[in-house]
Amino acid sequence: NKDLTIGMLGFGTVGSGVATMIRDNEKELTQRLGVKVNIGKIVVRDLDKERGTHVDSSLLCTNVHDVINDPSIDVIVEVMGGIEEARDAIEKALRARKPVITANKDLMALHGHSLLHLAHENGCDLYYEASVAGGIPIIRTLEDGLASDRISGIMGIVNGTTNYILTKMKEENWSYEEALSKAQALGFAESDPTSDVEGLDAARKMAILATLAFSMEVHLEDVAVTGMTSITTEDLQLAEQFGYSVKMLGFAERDAEGVDVSVEPVFLTSSHPLAAVRNEYNAVYIYGDAVGETMFYGPGAGSMPTATSVVSDILAACRNLLLGVGGMRSHDPMNTRLIKGEEE
Ligand code: NDP
Ligand code: HSE
Repeated sequence: NKDLTIGMLGFGTVGSGVATMIRDNEKELTQRLGVKVNIGKIVVRDLDKERGTHVDSSLLCTNVHDVINDPSIDVIVEVMGGIEEARDAIEKALRARKPVITANKDLMALHGHSLLHLAHENGCDLYYEASVAGGIPIIRTLEDGLASDRISGIMGIVNGTTNYILTKMKEENWSYEEALSKAQALGFAESDPTSDVEGLDAARKMAILATLAFSMEVHLEDVAVTGMTSITTEDLQLAEQFGYSVKMLGFAERDAEGVDVSVEPVFLTSSHPLAAVRNEYNAVYIYGDAVGETMFYGPGAGSMPTATSVVSDILAACRNLLLGVGGMRSHDPMNTRLIKGEEE
């Protein structure tokens, strides 16, 4: 087998982490896959931006289509964010039968279903583990590990930026503005941090998790959202005096009436395990009828944790490509193609 070559769309917080990991873990990745993974091209917006020494500048370009149409590129990694350009790029890549890995929850929450269909129609994979909870393999857990169970609910912290802000305001007495600007500097926040602090990023992630957990299409507009911008340092410290912590939580519950999904700031007793989740860390409880209560914890944002999920997806996509089984993975949350198959 020849080496495999990936084309990267984006080289910011996540993209640079992916490149670092592919370089630093070359031996392990090659051992696990049997062939080497190389980066062939990297799309950025600004060729003149200072990027340190860890990127070969000859790989950089600005035209997404040059990368997708390059016959030497086997797999596309979309880590540029945004909706329309990213969607167009991913659709073109899938139509060119190139597997795609994305970290883009905005896009997956909005168009995930149609993109997953397109991937299957073209016999290639679309992986999106990094789109929810950064370094925690939560998508695979719902798709594979707990696929046998009937999931009744999900509850957790799924946004690193807001958890970081609430931690620093409470523990270090930082102002909201100070904490937000540090979260941006550390690369945790979205390019428009309104989506973090108004709860939209968490709502998109909860829509993705609920879609997987309940095998039904849950959209952003189905999620009731309350942001955290009106919370002050005094509120957090007062809550603490009474034995409470304030956390931005996502909820997805199924009952006889249907499904309820929401994101809001909540008072938790300080002894609750979620109250101990600090900084950019995330934690997600999944409740299954058979398994009972499970909890998943880890870094929810940042360069290397998110890169871990992206590079694991790259490995999975490359493995399927080498085996010639692209598009076979049961990644359609609605399972439409199997149901369709039964009808045919
Ligand atoms: P950054 O803003 O750090 O990086 C974006 C990169 O994409 C930059 O290299 C930028 O180029 C490039 N880019 C953006 N738009 C275009 C365009 N239209 N054409 C060409 N290049 C473009 O973002 P992040 O790395 O933080 O996030 C990337 C994706 O990953 C987003 O979807 C985000 O939601 C998701 N994500 C982020 C996490 C995090 O912790 N940051 C965690 C999990 C998911 P240039 O460098 O020239 O500006
Ligand atoms: N802005 C997001 C967060 C990045 O803070 O959780 C990870 O998805």
